[in-house]
Amino acid sequence: MFAITNSAGLFGMNAFSVTVEAEVSKGRPNFIVSGLPDMGVRESCDRVRSAVNSIHIPFPNGKVLVNLAPADVKKSGSSFDLAIFVSLMQAMGVLPDRIPDSIFIGELGLHGVLHGIHGVLTITMQAREKGYKNIFVPIQNVKEASVTTGINVYGVENVEQLINHLTGDELLKPAPPYQPEAVHSILNYLDMEDVKGQPKAKNGIEIAAAGGHNILLIGSPGSGKSMLAQRVPTILPDMTKEEILETSNIYSVAGQLNEEKPLIQERPFRAPHHTISSAGLIGGGAIPSPGEISLAHNGVLFLDELPEFDRSTLEVLRQPLESRKIVISRAAGTAVYPCNIMLIAAMNPCPCGYYGSKVRQCTCSEKQVISYMGKISGPLLDRFDMHIDVDPVKYEDLASTEKAESSSSIRERIERARERQAERFKNTEIYSNAMIPDHLLGEYCHMNEAAKGLLRAVHAKYAVSARAFNRIQRVALSVADTLGHSEILRSDLAMAVQYRGFNSKYLLN
Ligand SMILES: Nc1ncnc2c1ncn2[C@@H]1O[C@H](COP(=O)(O)OP(=O)(O)OP(=O)(O)O)[C@@H](O)[C@H]1O
Ligand SMILES: [Mg+2]
Ligand SMILES: [Zn+2]
Repeated sequence: MFAITNSAGLFGMNAFSVTVEAEVSKGRPNFIVSGLPDMGVRESCDRVRSAVNSIHIPFPNGKVLVNLAPADVKKSGSSFDLAIFVSLMQAMGVLPDRIPDSIFIGELGLHGVLHGIHGVLTITMQAREKGYKNIFVPIQNVKEASVTTGINVYGVENVEQLINHLTGDELLKPAPPYQPEAVHSILNYLDMEDVKGQPKAKNGIEIAAAGGHNILLIGSPGSGKSMLAQRVPTILPDMTKEEILETSNIYSVAGQLNEEKPLIQERPFRAPHHTISSAGLIGGGAIPSPGEISLAHNGVLFLDELPEFDRSTLEVLRQPLESRKIVISRAAGTAVYPCNIMLIAAMNPCPCGYYGSKVRQCTCSEKQVISYMGKISGPLLDRFDMHIDVDPVKYEDLASTEKAESSSSIRERIERARERQAERFKNTEIYSNAMIPDHLLGEYCHMNEAAKGLLRAVHAKYAVSARAFNRIQRVALSVADTLGHSEILRSDLAMAVQYRGFNSKYLLN
């Protein structure tokens, strides 16, 4: 007997079709999987054997050959278990030879129980595009799969259920569609209203959040840098459905979705520790998995204590920050992960933390201060659109019992600024001012004459790099958007220049 069934594997964010063929023939009892399987796939044999035992059917007393086609693509992991089991059942005559329009993915545990796998959202979406009508997935993954409409999603607990369904003895019900909607649970415990004073830093953060700009917060210990950064997601607009799916796709591939968290419905805030490796940050591995920068897609990547990160680790961020995607090439293929993020970094200005402080004397030598700043390369510094000085909180502010403006109130203004951007960028691939490509700056950044004059003067006065020059214009546009100006005024540009930190007391430039 010879049987064929359909499954899918994953490389990066691409699902590829795999046909599972099974044949049972006479001969010395043996169970072989061919078609470039890795160790994980080869171990399927034992799990499938146990699943067959669980339904009290004797395992074939002969040669069992399973082939995964195409044979030239490397197969890894345990997600083919279910399809291998189904094709064996077909070859044994338990199930019909052909199960049309259906695809099977899932890992088998002992006794025929299914375990959740990575990438179910991605595979389901692509299965629908390929025209499959039914997909069978582990029950643990049913919610992420059922976001996809136009395909029947069946959550399977164990192989017995599946056999009963496919033989028509007891039908499973397709899962109801799962509607992705933005949620905000972090709003329950973090709010901008907890941060007292700091009007300049908060204003800068608001502009950055409005335009999606990368920011560097710099100031002495305890001034509230970490506190401010953690609250940025609370002022960002709700995720759109599209963003929810994009980000969830990455988490699905990374195996970070589960029954409790079937989708990523609020903007991610990722704050990796400074001991993280380059691979951890941008992704890696033989079959490349997404790194922190991609897990922060459509949200915030926060690098606290920036100079503590390994310099070479930070350097790998430069390119993806510009292109907003990561390309990882391996012998087996190329994986592309999106990383459209807002980067927030925080740092002290020197090893003791008090360089430039009015409240405490810095105890570092000039050389120490310079070498501390030097830990971050010029090109990386250049990628922060805004440098925000966070000064120590004033006593009157700290002592005040009044609550500061709430996140939801700030968010309303940001949403209006984003609406202006949506209108400006409609029918383009741009979502925010920070994303305007250099060659389109002239088209989008309209300035009045006074602003143009100031820009010229700034360029003459400070040795402004071309990148910095462009970034100032983008930030100025975000200032104009937050204030509701229809073109960039001189004051908008002046504010953008100020947040560029040319006159900073810290040795940034
Ligand atoms: N503006 C503020 N309003 C209210 N509390 C504040 C403010 N700034 C700081 N704090 C308090 O000080 C604590 C330390 O702040 P935070 O950790 O954000 O400082 P930091 O600037 O990140 O310091 P470090 O440089 O040491 O990392 C906060 O947990 C908070 O309790
Ligand atoms: Mg801190
Ligand atoms: Zn110091």
